[in-house]
Amino acid sequence: MANFTFLNSPIHVAHHFWKLIVETTDHVIDATLGNGQDALFLAPLCTRGKLTGIDVQEQAISSAQEILKEYYHIEYVLGSHATFPNHLTPETIKLIVYNLGYLPRGDKTIVTQTSSTLESVQNALSLLTPGGMISITCYSGHEEGANEEKALLEFSRRLNPRQWSVSHQQWLNRHRCPSLLLISKCLS
Ligand SMILES: C[S@@+](CC[C@H](N)C(=O)[O-])C[C@H]1O[C@@H](n2cnc3c(N)ncnc32)[C@H](O)[C@@H]1O
Repeated sequence: MANFTFLNSPIHVAHHFWKLIVETTDHVIDATLGNGQDALFLAPLCTRGKLTGIDVQEQAISSAQEILKEYYHIEYVLGSHATFPNHLTPETIKLIVYNLGYLPRGDKTIVTQTSSTLESVQNALSLLTPGGMISITCYSGHEEGANEEKALLEFSRRLNPRQWSVSHQQWLNRHRCPSLLLISKCLS
């Protein structure tokens, strides 16, 4: 694949936004921890804060723990992101990241589902600090992923523009390329 300054991939673009908004004392959530590659990028950004990683698969949590073993500010949660852990309080999380779909090199039948993803994003809105952001990488290349993306776009299109700024970035000249949905909460 050719190399580009900014538009290499949705995840490359997402990283730029994550770096821009996360400060060292922030609390960040990776709602689809998987093998921990995204968390590996997030962990050094919030070393004096906290990173909560959530996944439904034990295998994902243990792979992530292995590659993140040098970090001690990470909380691992085995379970669905549909509901967030009770100890999280509203308006305390700077960034909530979703990388939808299935675990790379894992069980392809365990895939994020439209209804639980929507429930999760709905719950995530109240957790964000003013100026916080939800970052969602969507994969429309398979049927469930296409439905999930469509539902997320319908949901986020209806968010009040006085409180939320929503953008959706698609790669027009790439076949089956994931897209990036960003939901940003107003500062005041
Ligand atoms: C594309 S992978 C995530 C990749 C990961 N962020 C990384 O850097 O390796 C999607 C992950 O979502 C997880 N997942 C699926 N449904 C979930 C749910 N309801 N709650 C939390 N995680 C879920 C899967 O187990 C899988 O590990």
